[in-house]
Amino acid sequence: MAIERIVDTSSHVDDIDEQRIEVSLRPQNFSEYIGQDRLKKNLQLAIKATKKRNEPLDHVLLYGPPGLGKTTMASVIANEMGTNLRVTSGPAIERAGDLASILTNLQDNDILFIDEIHRLSRAVEEILYSAMEDYKLDIIIGKGPAARSVRLDLPKFTVIGATTRTGSLAAPLRDRFGIIHRLEFYTPDQVSNIIKRAASILKSNIHDDSARILSTRARLTPRIANRLLKRVRDYADVNGDGIIDVKTTMNALEMLEIDELGLDPADRHLLSSIVESYGDNPVGLTTIAALTGDEATTIEDFYEPYLLQIGFIERTPRGRRVTPRARKHLELL
Ligand SMILES: Nc1ncnc2c1ncn2[C@@H]1O[C@H](COP(=O)(O)OP(=O)(O)O)[C@@H](O)[C@H]1O
Ligand SMILES: [Mg+2]
Repeated sequence: MAIERIVDTSSHVDDIDEQRIEVSLRPQNFSEYIGQDRLKKNLQLAIKATKKRNEPLDHVLLYGPPGLGKTTMASVIANEMGTNLRVTSGPAIERAGDLASILTNLQDNDILFIDEIHRLSRAVEEILYSAMEDYKLDIIIGKGPAARSVRLDLPKFTVIGATTRTGSLAAPLRDRFGIIHRLEFYTPDQVSNIIKRAASILKSNIHDDSARILSTRARLTPRIANRLLKRVRDYADVNGDGIIDVKTTMNALEMLEIDELGLDPADRHLLSSIVESYGDNPVGLTTIAALTGDEATTIEDFYEPYLLQIGFIERTPRGRRVTPRARKHLELL
């Protein structure tokens, strides 16, 4: 899509300013990490136990929609463990040899964070799960009849995998993770706290009522909360005295065309095109993608999770359906 969406949950990797702010706002430890209490409790216990036994942490798989704090949690875990964090991603590890060189360069108790782990190739995946299982690396040396297989010992490391879709992970790989956890959407109260924390780091003056308003429009997602805050702060700096009060907030949101539920023009277009062409009949993902000109995976990862969460779309065996609730909100009755 040509227009950059404020509310899309992807990390805008080309936006240097955004990257800089994302890093500065990233919580460093459990106490700064707001919400996801069940996950934190489980991890805190696991970390305490492994430290006591002086063992590496169990492999951790974090899944859930983008922008909810998976990458952040990986670095929090490394900080809390006091270990090195090595960051890579599924698409970055192209060949078995790439993984072999990453693994042989790790030290005991190091954490290897693999983002988008569902995008590893099958060949790489197979090497990874034997490495995760018994800290051994099987490699083939030589070619043709002279080729022989060698087993190398690896340091005792921990994999933290992140994925938006556990479904696409091969079962043998999934089974190697001792801790598997889904990140949940945040409550508006938690989002409000995230916004206030971010505002104070950015030295920005935001009224409580404004934080509350933004918290209901950030799609229950920290990444969007931070991005909205940044835009509203720009608006307040340009059109006022920099103070983010209710009036400034409402004006900024209107300019950004973000409605009471955090929907932007692209969401409204998606929903209304489905309704216009298909009424309340279920439609397949590829059909929806064709309607909006997006990739099916974009619909699945970026639009759909929040629309499902607020009950605007439901999944049926025959496809996705726009609910009466969504039609009411969009006045499409
Ligand atoms: N629990 C949280 N508390 C405060 N800020 C958070 C939290 N989770 C995420 N964030 C903020 O949201 C941004 C996006 O989080 P990130 O970990 O990159 O999401 P993901 O990896 O799931 O896409 C981070 O830069 C961080 O500032
Ligand atoms: Mg991430």
